[in-house]
Amino acid sequence: MVLRPRVTGSGPVIQIPAQRRVLLCMGPGGVGKTTVAAALGLAAARQGRRVIVLTIDPSRRLAQALGLDPRQGHAPGTIVPVHGPGGVELDCLMLDTQRVFDEIVRVYSRDEAAAQRMLANPIYRATAQHLGGALEYAATARVHMLHAERRYDLIVLDTPPTANALDFIDAPQHITELVSNPAARFLAGTGRIGMKLIGLGGGVLLKTFEAMGGGSFIAELGGFLKDFGNVLGEFRRRAGDVAELLRSAETGAVFATAATDFSAREAEAFIDVIVERGMRVDGIVVNRVLPRLPPLPAASVLHAAVAAQVGEGAAEATVQALGAGYSGARRQAERAGRILAHLQQRYPSVPVAVLERRDPPPASLEELVQMGDHLLSPPSV
Ligand SMILES: Nc1ncnc2c1ncn2[C@@H]1O[C@H](COP(=O)(O)OP(=O)(O)O)[C@@H](O)[C@H]1O
Ligand SMILES: [Mg+2]
Repeated sequence: MVLRPRVTGSGPVIQIPAQRRVLLCMGPGGVGKTTVAAALGLAAARQGRRVIVLTIDPSRRLAQALGLDPRQGHAPGTIVPVHGPGGVELDCLMLDTQRVFDEIVRVYSRDEAAAQRMLANPIYRATAQHLGGALEYAATARVHMLHAERRYDLIVLDTPPTANALDFIDAPQHITELVSNPAARFLAGTGRIGMKLIGLGGGVLLKTFEAMGGGSFIAELGGFLKDFGNVLGEFRRRAGDVAELLRSAETGAVFATAATDFSAREAEAFIDVIVERGMRVDGIVVNRVLPRLPPLPAASVLHAAVAAQVGEGAAEATVQALGAGYSGARRQAERAGRILAHLQQRYPSVPVAVLERRDPPPASLEELVQMGDHLLSPPSV
């Protein structure tokens, strides 16, 4: 491998074109989607955009860094203003699936009375947010609403952990079809197999039984799905198709991947689906990369230094353990370089950025700002 990829020390390479109003942070689970969403959101805000970051499942540390900690009185679903270092300001919002559905029901029901009936319906309360694809639906619906409000220049969406990009992109369509599909409604009314079909697990079933005091649940579920389907259909008719927004030049996607072959392959599968759907890819972030290490000093030098610390008796074993650990870390860094070069080659028009592994993981706005500044360069008009 002769390519010497820019693992560290390169300037920020990702740009979010000025026309983008929605930025999706996508990728396999646990690779840093939420972190990258926050970092990019902060960087875009520092560049003067009015930004909101919509997160799905921030780790506690990250939620605290963003000030989204429920113990600070910030319930999911409420917009929280964040004041970062250097006067940077942006809004953050933790997705609350139920609240998004409630909002849709309130605005798109036939009339006020119908809305109140649905909101009070125990089947709605117990099942809506557990239907297959509900989380993904709510995330895109919330983006759609924020986009329509025009309060923000950029909405950064941290996407839910799905097995592949299609699970996310197609989920809104699925749930609409599901609740609007008479056959699915019929099956829902016939018991367990139907429950599986609409994505409801046994736990939800049981809870709802209890909430309703038993019996009529199965029979009434079909009726509920019909009313809910009408509401979602009305939302789609009046608000417009969110899939269109995602395909338009107003939406871009940034992908995160860990620096492992497995994760990179998963990320590639995500990217290929997105590209095939006619969506735009604004960048790839190879995350948690170990810095490249200089070679170890010669064994004799090392041996003397180690012996001075641990004594001559333990020196040889310690030097060997050091050497093994060190070369493991070097191999990892080299692998990251290979993955970076591979992604650059595979997607020549997409900037590929690298974030170093931080130890401990980022837990403050300052660190997220540093990461964001490392990723994002100003848009060229
Ligand atoms: N560059 C990094 N260095 C160290 N830890 C990181 C880095 N990026 C993310 N993490 C940590 O890795 C974990 C997963 O990151 P997260 O952003 O929550 O991923 P995802 O949203 O894809 O599940 C979190 O604990 C986060 O703090
Ligand atoms: Mg996440």
